[in-house]
Amino acid sequence: MSEPWTPIERELAEQMRGNDIISVRQFRPQELRTLLSIIERFEGDQAGLLRGKVLAALFFEPSTRTRLSFESAMARLGGGVIGFANAGISSAAKGETLQDTIRIVENYCDLFVIRHPREGSARAAANATSLPVINGGDGSNQHPTQTLLDLYTIKRRLGRTTQLRIGFVGDLKYGRAAHSLVQATAMLGNDLVLIAPTSLRLPKRHIAELDVLNASYEETADLPNAIPTLDVLYVTRIQRERFADPLNYERVKNVYQINRAAVDTGKNELIVMHPLPRVNEIHPDVDASPRAAYFDQAKNGVTVRKALLALLMGAVR
Ligand code: NCD
Repeated sequence: MSEPWTPIERELAEQMRGNDIISVRQFRPQELRTLLSIIERFEGDQAGLLRGKVLAALFFEPSTRTRLSFESAMARLGGGVIGFANAGISSAAKGETLQDTIRIVENYCDLFVIRHPREGSARAAANATSLPVINGGDGSNQHPTQTLLDLYTIKRRLGRTTQLRIGFVGDLKYGRAAHSLVQATAMLGNDLVLIAPTSLRLPKRHIAELDVLNASYEETADLPNAIPTLDVLYVTRIQRERFADPLNYERVKNVYQINRAAVDTGKNELIVMHPLPRVNEIHPDVDASPRAAYFDQAKNGVTVRKALLALLMGAVR
């Protein structure tokens, strides 16, 4: 896209420069829409935009897509990456606090992306440094860059991010990707169908937020009846690592398994999404369906993260 930036895009870029990305709640609906149009500008080649800049990627929890797509985005913009993918080899293993780690590493980098098992850790990290911090997932709380790539994928597939009927299925209790996207899609004006067994329902504080937004939502455990009504089916993994009692995980681990036959009961336009990794909640026989959008999501992650890195670094042209 080579059209000049609009004043609204310029204003948002100015606002994001030097700032953090901690939660989808920091954006107004119009800002989310503007951000998606800015992201589209990063489909092309932007080599050299972040030459000489260094991203510190501090991952205290497992990751494939989030970490590697940030690394790829940084490399494609000409910048460098330092960090760790396994906190066991960092000084955290010796008992160093997150705040101390940030204070040290800020001398070596220009911005951070952090993933950490504790809710609120990204905010705590941002408070410990004046450099921009991107939340790459904080416990069960938020995963804002995942949400942006989810919204971007919905926009590219369905042409809009509003007035859709979006079903969220699986672990709505612990899943941060679901928590962020539920909030954002409600803000943008969509009908939400929250599909989960009783023990994995969306926590009350998130429901309360939907009520504050006056959002349209319903809760059910019945997936087969929901599918034919949906434009988007957002499937999530049961978050085994967040269960206090492994027995409770065993009880629900296979609660929803979606296969091609189930997906084919959906509307023609239905798309099936998943932040990945999947365990067995989507059968591989769905992969060849034109409705499967989850590999697109992972691909779009690089474009989205290129845009976010450039925006926070104030390197937009
Ligand atoms: C998600 C996460 O880490 O929250 N993965 C991702 O970033 N794509 C989803 C998950 O782990 O289930």
